[in-house]
Amino acid sequence: MYEKFRKEADDCYRRAEEMATDYFKSLSVQLESKTYATTLINDIQTWKQDHIYSSLLTRFSRGKGKLNPRSYNQYIQWLEFTGKLDGYLDRSISYIFMRDLGKDVNSPDTRNRIRSIVDDLKNQLPYTSKTDSREMFSMAYLYRWAQKEGVESSIIWVMDKLKSVSANLPKGMNHDEAKRKLIKIIAGVIIHQIEEMGDQISAKERVRKLDEAIRLGYCYGLTYPFIDDLLDSDVLSDEEKLKYSSLIRSTLITESVPDLGLWVEANKNLIQYIHSELREAYTYIHERLRREAREDFFEQSYVFFHSQEVDRNKNLSNANYTNEELYVPVILKSAFSRLIARSVLSVKEDEGFDNRTFFYGIYNQLADDFADMFGDMEAGAVTPYTYYLNYHEVRKDLINPFELYWTVIFNLIHNVYGSDTKAREIILNRAMNGLKRFKERVGDKKYNEVMAIFATGIPKLDKLIQKMVRKAEDVDFLDKLLRDQIIADFKNERIEREDFVTIAKTVRDQINNVLHIPKTDIISSLEEPIIDAANYSVQGDGKRLRPIMTWVMGVHEYGLDQSAIVPLLKSLEYMHTASLIFDDLPAQDDSSYRRGRLTVHEVYNTAVAELTGLYLTQEAVVEQASLGFDPKVVLRLIQYSAGKTTEMCRGQAMDLNSKGKQLTLDQLNTICFYKTGIAFEASLVMPAILAGKQEEEIEALKTFAYHAGIAFQIKDDLLDVEGDLELLGKPVGQDVENNNSNFVSILGIEDARKAMWDHYCHAMEALQKLQYKTGYLKQILNYTINREY
Ligand code: IPE
Ligand code: IPE
Ligand code: MG
Ligand code: MG
Ligand code: MG
Repeated sequence: MYEKFRKEADDCYRRAEEMATDYFKSLSVQLESKTYATTLINDIQTWKQDHIYSSLLTRFSRGKGKLNPRSYNQYIQWLEFTGKLDGYLDRSISYIFMRDLGKDVNSPDTRNRIRSIVDDLKNQLPYTSKTDSREMFSMAYLYRWAQKEGVESSIIWVMDKLKSVSANLPKGMNHDEAKRKLIKIIAGVIIHQIEEMGDQISAKERVRKLDEAIRLGYCYGLTYPFIDDLLDSDVLSDEEKLKYSSLIRSTLITESVPDLGLWVEANKNLIQYIHSELREAYTYIHERLRREAREDFFEQSYVFFHSQEVDRNKNLSNANYTNEELYVPVILKSAFSRLIARSVLSVKEDEGFDNRTFFYGIYNQLADDFADMFGDMEAGAVTPYTYYLNYHEVRKDLINPFELYWTVIFNLIHNVYGSDTKAREIILNRAMNGLKRFKERVGDKKYNEVMAIFATGIPKLDKLIQKMVRKAEDVDFLDKLLRDQIIADFKNERIEREDFVTIAKTVRDQINNVLHIPKTDIISSLEEPIIDAANYSVQGDGKRLRPIMTWVMGVHEYGLDQSAIVPLLKSLEYMHTASLIFDDLPAQDDSSYRRGRLTVHEVYNTAVAELTGLYLTQEAVVEQASLGFDPKVVLRLIQYSAGKTTEMCRGQAMDLNSKGKQLTLDQLNTICFYKTGIAFEASLVMPAILAGKQEEEIEALKTFAYHAGIAFQIKDDLLDVEGDLELLGKPVGQDVENNNSNFVSILGIEDARKAMWDHYCHAMEALQKLQYKTGYLKQILNYTINREY
């Protein structure tokens, strides 16, 4: 059976290879005869009318604040200001329609569609001078989109998947790149789906299709980091690579992921994870696709995979590859990756799509390989450019890939798109943009060296191209801007997170060092376990999240003196610990385990636990009263804090009183806020009081704390059903046992998660109202919903 399938797959590859060979031959004939050059020069001459301005005009537009397209916000604003936004969006969307959707950009339908997307985008593009781009590409933004479309569950699912991909991706691979690619592919499939379904579709069907696109996008996208990039990297040993690629090959041939069998090599855990993810993914794709589309999908995937393998197995030290050997796999992999993206959605055939896509791929690939030539060289990868760099002096028969690139451009404009003006405009824009970006990245000197090697040898054409690279304007694209922005955001986010983790760890250690309550005044020789019990309870493995928040705000944002706020930090942790001691009592949640050890009433007894709780809340006041600030401010702080403690008591009582009751969402929010959110609020508001902050700011903090606190509690409720005792340090399944009414018991896991994300978004939005840098609060919030304990 396997042999039969295998033969079919090989036949299919051979057919594709023949097509690619024919295509390549026709390109090389055009290249050899140089017939393309005159027409292409004319094309560029015509094109440049709209892209080269007289120096006066240029100066004029510079005067209007020309700037480097570095920051997303500024750039979009600048485009709008100079009246260039329309053209920019049009060119960007048209390009996506050509490349990803294989459309004929000049058909009236497509033109209208592009027009209407441009109009929508202009109104929707999230850019104002105040928003930080990271808010726009953030999970909150994504989740808000999901809410609008009614696809929250799938988005939560995919965000969790991305998180686990990140967590499992080995060190030797580029995490940001993997994430970016996955996101790009998922987004691509969603866009594709939206375009396919049109506006006539029912709301319900739209949700179903979008849900499916998100999941299919992930399933298909996964193959990029976990097949191609993994095999390209040095993570697996040669032996493992062989085994792994044969596993993938047989998956694509048989349409199902075979058992992994024994994997004794070093990367066993990684491979097990990937194997189970791929199995889930391919099973989902298999189930979703109609037979024909499924056959296409697996056949195309096979061609894609095999052509990549052929390329991967080439060796830069082999001086004997023919042009055909170099270019045919390039044509295949670039075309088939696009074809798959379409099959994965089982979309109906579109006349001309296959052809356009087939011819188009190499244009893209040659541009990408050009941009990556130095990286590929370093990695020893064979691409037309690295190979040419190595051998052009000794192999006069080698085709110059850069010249082939221009031949492809000519061929696309005239033979594939029928000399269409718009196609010419877009393709040339993209080509010039690619060169400009490359030049900017590597610098003039290196750029000139590269050009000395790769010039087409047709002086007029070479000169013209270089002039365009120097002078052409309005050739940039939104997808490139997004790409740069996302890469920058990932990087900033990573730095911020690492920074926060370091700070949190340091602060946590500091807090742990000061919590101990000394026994200074021994009352008599009578036994008196309260202080021991208090120390026992605070010594447990608590996260110290509340005092960490206080520290971050107090010291970092408000510039309060670190040692001056130590009593405040202690007081917060004492109050919190007291609330846990009470919460665990037999009369309340009746829990015998907390912070990885027995609860206070288990080690001592209920009476001692009650008294210890009371003792700690009062010890907190003693600490607060010792704060060395203006007495009026301290008094205000104590008044605030005591008031919050009374509210928390009420919250806890409401919680206990709600056992077994069917609560409304409103009631759930209220209880959660009172029992948990208030402590979050106090942790943020108290340092603001000490720093003398205005009411308005305190209000914004309260809004943030309200949502962050509830999100925290929902996560706690979720962990109660899904968590791990070892990690949590407290029992799981307690809420069900106690018949507690909380977000999970009332809404169910899925809706509880949605509620948590909704609060997450509200909290993020509240942060935007705060005046100062809020990176750490963002980190705290992310931690809150992503934590496992
Ligand atoms: C537990 O709080 C009580 C809730 C509000 C859910 P934490 O999860 O912060 O507990 P510790 O301090 O880390 O033990
Ligand atoms: C606790 O809520 C709220 C408090 C502030 C004590 P839970 O009862 O869910 O907390 P855990 O799960 O026991 O930590
Ligand atoms: Mg409780
Ligand atoms: Mg409890
Ligand atoms: Mg709980």
